[in-house]
Parts: sequence; C-alpha cells; structure tokens
Amino acid sequence: MNKRLKMFVLDNYSIPKRALDLGAGELVDVNGLKKMGWEVEGVDLKMGVNLEKFYLSKKRPFDLVYSNFVIHKIKNQTEFVKTAFENLKKDGWFFIQTFDLSDLNSSSKFTGDLLSKLLHKEGFRNIVFRVFDVFDDEEGHNHWHRVLEASAQK
Ligand SMILES: C[S@@+](CC[C@H](N)C(=O)[O-])C[C@H]1O[C@@H](n2cnc3c(N)ncnc32)[C@H](O)[C@@H]1O
Repeated sequence: MNKRLKMFVLDNYSIPKRALDLGAGELVDVNGLKKMGWEVEGVDLKMGVNLEKFYLSKKRPFDLVYSNFVIHKIKNQTEFVKTAFENLKKDGWFFIQTFDLSDLNSSSKFTGDLLSKLLHKEGFRNIVFRVFDVFDDEEGHNHWHRVLEASAQK
C-alpha cells in the first residue's frame, strides 16, 4: 500500500471509515485499506469506469476519496475533481498524488499552484500541497520521481 496514503489515513482517522479510490489500478491501496478495516470502492478504466466523465457512486457519500498517479492521465480534469467532490461527505477529505512538472520521468504538467487552483475552483477548502522525491524501485523503472501530493476538504 502507498506509504503516504497510509500516513494520511493514520493521521486523520481514529477508526476505519469508507473510501473511494479513483483509478484503483491493481487494487493495491484498496486491499491495503480493507486490511485496516475500511470499506472501500475502487474504480478504474479497467473496471469499466471512465473517469473522463463525471462518476457518482451508488455507495456515496464517502469519508475519504483518494487518487494516486491518475489525474495527469486525465484530459477532463475538472470533471475528475468534481467526481471527487460530489462523492464526499461534508468535511470529508480528498487525498491526491500525481507527478510534478519538474519530474523528469513523467509527462505531468501539474504544479502545486495549478492543482490547488483546480481543487479550489471545484469548491474544496483547506488545500495543502507538498512536493517530494521518491525513488521508484519497481522492476524496469529504477528512477526518481518528483511527487506532488495534495489534501483538501469538502
Ligand atoms: C499509474 S496507475 C495507478 C494505479 C493506482 N492508483 C496505484 O497507485 O497503484 C494509473 C491508473 O489510472 C487508470 N486510468 C487512466 N485513465 C483512466 C480513465 N480515463 N478512467 C479511469 N481510470 C483511468 C489506469 O487504468 C491505471 O490503472
């Protein structure tokens, strides 16, 4: 499970709650959170959910919506952020990671300011972003990434 997501969850929730993963991929984070007692829905193109379009879950509202390394692949980023916002409970958190513009190993065009503006425009508050370097030791990768992470509240 993604370490930063785990830290965010442990810092902000004292008991397991309900979460939605946007772009859940191989369900690594979904299964990690389930092991921690959370109830989690994971959606992805692989499961027939195209996040270029607004998606409203039947299981909403969620306490946490998160998305790791997906938004830079999405063209319709306004609808993506709206999906996060509308699936959350009031005061619920959106936690998102992508790559920063300065990352030499991705095509992401995001900066903290750009992501913050996008989140603010869709109604999020308490927006905080961080940029840090992470070594990607996945087979065939072995390079650094400059990760951009943001958290924001509905
Ligand atoms: C780099 S993977 C990240 C997977 C997972 N979040 C993780 O951190 O392990 C990117 C994921 O975004 C999904 N994705 C890309 N475009 C998408 C779209 N338009 N709608 C839904 N999922 C999409 C891909 O199918 C892939 O699973």
